Amino acid sequence: MGNNVSENVEKKPSEEAPIEVVIVGAGHRSLLYASYAKLHPEQLNIVGVVEPDGERMNLTKERFEIPEDNCFADLEEFVRRPKMADAVINGTLDHLHVATTIPLLKAGYDILLEKPIGVGADEVLQLYAEARRYGRKVMICHVLRYAPFYESIRRQIADEAIGDIVSLTTSENVSYHHMGMAYVRGKWGNKDRGGSSMLMAKSCHDLDILTWMKGDVRPVKVSSFGSLQQFRPEKAPAGAGTRCMVDCQIEDSCPYSARKNYIEQRLWRAYVTYNKHLGVSMSDEELAESLRTESPYGRCVWHCDNDVVDHQTVIVEFEDGCTATHVMTGGVSKPGRSIHIVGTQGEIQGELEEGYYVVRHPDARQGHVYTEQRVDLAVSKDMHGGGDLRLVEDFIKVLRGAAPSISSTALEKSIDGHLIGFAADESRLEQRIVELKGVGV
Ligand SMILES: NC(=O)c1ccc[n+]([C@@H]2O[C@H](COP(=O)([O-])OP(=O)(O)OC[C@H]3O[C@@H](n4cnc5c(N)ncnc54)[C@H](O)[C@@H]3O)[C@@H](O)[C@H]2O)c1
Repeated sequence: MGNNVSENVEKKPSEEAPIEVVIVGAGHRSLLYASYAKLHPEQLNIVGVVEPDGERMNLTKERFEIPEDNCFADLEEFVRRPKMADAVINGTLDHLHVATTIPLLKAGYDILLEKPIGVGADEVLQLYAEARRYGRKVMICHVLRYAPFYESIRRQIADEAIGDIVSLTTSENVSYHHMGMAYVRGKWGNKDRGGSSMLMAKSCHDLDILTWMKGDVRPVKVSSFGSLQQFRPEKAPAGAGTRCMVDCQIEDSCPYSARKNYIEQRLWRAYVTYNKHLGVSMSDEELAESLRTESPYGRCVWHCDNDVVDHQTVIVEFEDGCTATHVMTGGVSKPGRSIHIVGTQGEIQGELEEGYYVVRHPDARQGHVYTEQRVDLAVSKDMHGGGDLRLVEDFIKVLRGAAPSISSTALEKSIDGHLIGFAADESRLEQRIVELKGVGV
């Protein structure tokens, strides 16, 4: 597929001109990152799009005033053309990440690639080998590293504020309405459809945070438990139907009601109404009709084709003896992420959504137990605690040759978290501890 890199005329990013980028997969995530070009046209220019969905392609073309000639329905067609931009934003779905990225590397593009890098350890390591072979930069959209909350904690660790890390505990609580939309009814509810387990689709950020906090200390052993406990037909409450707005007798009292979540509360409209991310709106009446008829989001959460877990716990041992635990739970009332890092000289604890964390140190003076310093941060409620567009900003800097930032999500620095996730799924299914020794980069 595509050209050999040597056949392309190398186009190098210039100091003054905006970085030129082609979108591959004009879905929700790519368009979110591409919105940076509207805010900072002097830094980023969207010059092309590859998208098989004709409507999405045209809407993207209009939004960024992309010449017709630079719009492609097919990746092969695009990579056959001489290199026409500095980089690509690859926002295709999980199972296409590696298959679409390799030809792009070969064609000479640097890449901002959505997470997860791939859907299995072998293909992730294959991608790493190909990126090295073609000498390209690949950054992974581990946007939480750029959220001020996590970045500030990472700096405390780098500054040795709590000594060496002894243990890390993180949790991710996925709300009932997010769970229902994405991991039961939606794109990531079924592993064959979405390509990823729920752990990799949802918590690969958190597993990445664990390895990022540990710096160069490698994870060596992984164990995990979890199951699909709640959203199965035999757990359906009496009176539940197949579609909320068609044959359900308990719709009025059900928190997963499609009518309440998507029409009344207007939650997740970008997902349940196709192409909202490209400015196409759907009236409430049209949405109601689709939820009653063909929309997967109108289905009863106990009667879907979902097969991914609804909760999972992962335990990791690092090579220095440090241990880490991540608990992912779907269906909670109050969503959020928490972190507690205990070091040899102190500890850090916080919840992302609260907008602050605390640093504690032992204080053995009479009448004292510990000191506590509160660190407040400007935390936005959306865009992953403010991380999404800061990632794009850093990607542009990296393309211009800047040194990697503390948050840098370079491919080679993003693999260990993925290896933990794949091993956790193996451990969960095979009921055994999985050793990571020798697998990494
Ligand atoms: N970083 C994060 O926090 C975060 C959050 C949500 C989703 N994601 C990830 O982002 C990715 C995209 O998710 P989304 O919700 O934007 O998906 P989406 O379905 O909205 O977009 C994917 C697009 O890719 C297009 N496509 C399919 N095959 C293609 C091909 N061969 N070449 C080019 N385009 C092709 C589809 O038509 C679609 O428009 C997924 O991998 C998802 O797991 C990341």
